[in-house]
Amino acid sequence: MKRVRKAIFPVGGLGTRFLPATKAMPKEMLPVVDKPLIQYAVEEASAAGIEDFIFVTGRGKSAIEDHFDYSHELQQTLVERNKTKELESIANLLPVPGQVVYLRQQEPLGLGHAVWCARRLVEDEPVAVLLADDLIKSDTPCLKQMVEAYERTGGNIVAVMDVPREHTNRYGVLRPGRDDGRLVEVMGLVEKPKPADAPSTACVIGRYILQPEIFRELDRQETGAGNEIQLTDAMARLIGRQPFHGLRFEGRRFDCGDKAGFIEANIAFALAHPDIGPQAEDILRRFGRELKPAGAAA
Ligand code: G1P
Repeated sequence: MKRVRKAIFPVGGLGTRFLPATKAMPKEMLPVVDKPLIQYAVEEASAAGIEDFIFVTGRGKSAIEDHFDYSHELQQTLVERNKTKELESIANLLPVPGQVVYLRQQEPLGLGHAVWCARRLVEDEPVAVLLADDLIKSDTPCLKQMVEAYERTGGNIVAVMDVPREHTNRYGVLRPGRDDGRLVEVMGLVEKPKPADAPSTACVIGRYILQPEIFRELDRQETGAGNEIQLTDAMARLIGRQPFHGLRFEGRRFDCGDKAGFIEANIAFALAHPDIGPQAEDILRRFGRELKPAGAAA
């Protein structure tokens, strides 16, 4: 079985849900406390043993490249001012030269298309895909949990979480087979079904380990839900030909593609932050006292 060494980060999306914040800044650079979303995803991949980082970007995303690059001026200034802690905070951002590739998705044709754009860099190896919008707070990084599962099952693995039935139209949804509560056999996948049509409430969260055959399926460039080239549809065609599992990961997932989810993530990460945790707690308590009880008249 080939080890998972490569990861794709689709970061070409426009981030319209966060306008005007994302007019001139990539949504992946939105900070949760003091780190941009994309850095959480890259650190998670790195902790899972990923060695090659492939960013599928688009116009207006150069801040992401700058973030993972050496900033001579900043570095120099911090050294001169003896800002050791600040220096440390940026020291780990530098990938080994040659480990990172940026390529452009020229047209926003969907997640499947973004992943397909990386096909020539992945070649015949398994590959991880991480969507930075899905931020996961856990003891063991989510992708690491998936790699460990992959070492037992092989094939394809998606991160899975149960959601309220009325939300199935936001996700790829599993038709589950054998299920031991943690590892679920995937018998089918549907992208964004209406709640009444959803085969279950077990949904795909933005972490994938995929076999290179996915690219042959994506080669078809067929459009699906929302008239986009869907990764879910390509994955569905691998079922039955290769092992395919969902992993109910340990951890809490925040939907940072959504304003409320993004605020929730900031609160959770602030509370757990070594510098500002106690302050964040005080702030929340104060707000709590000011809030009217749920359901009270305005
Ligand atoms: C994408 C995928 C969907 C998956 C979701 C997880 O949707 O298409 O299958 O469940 O990510 O966040 P998007 O959120 O880009 O609409």
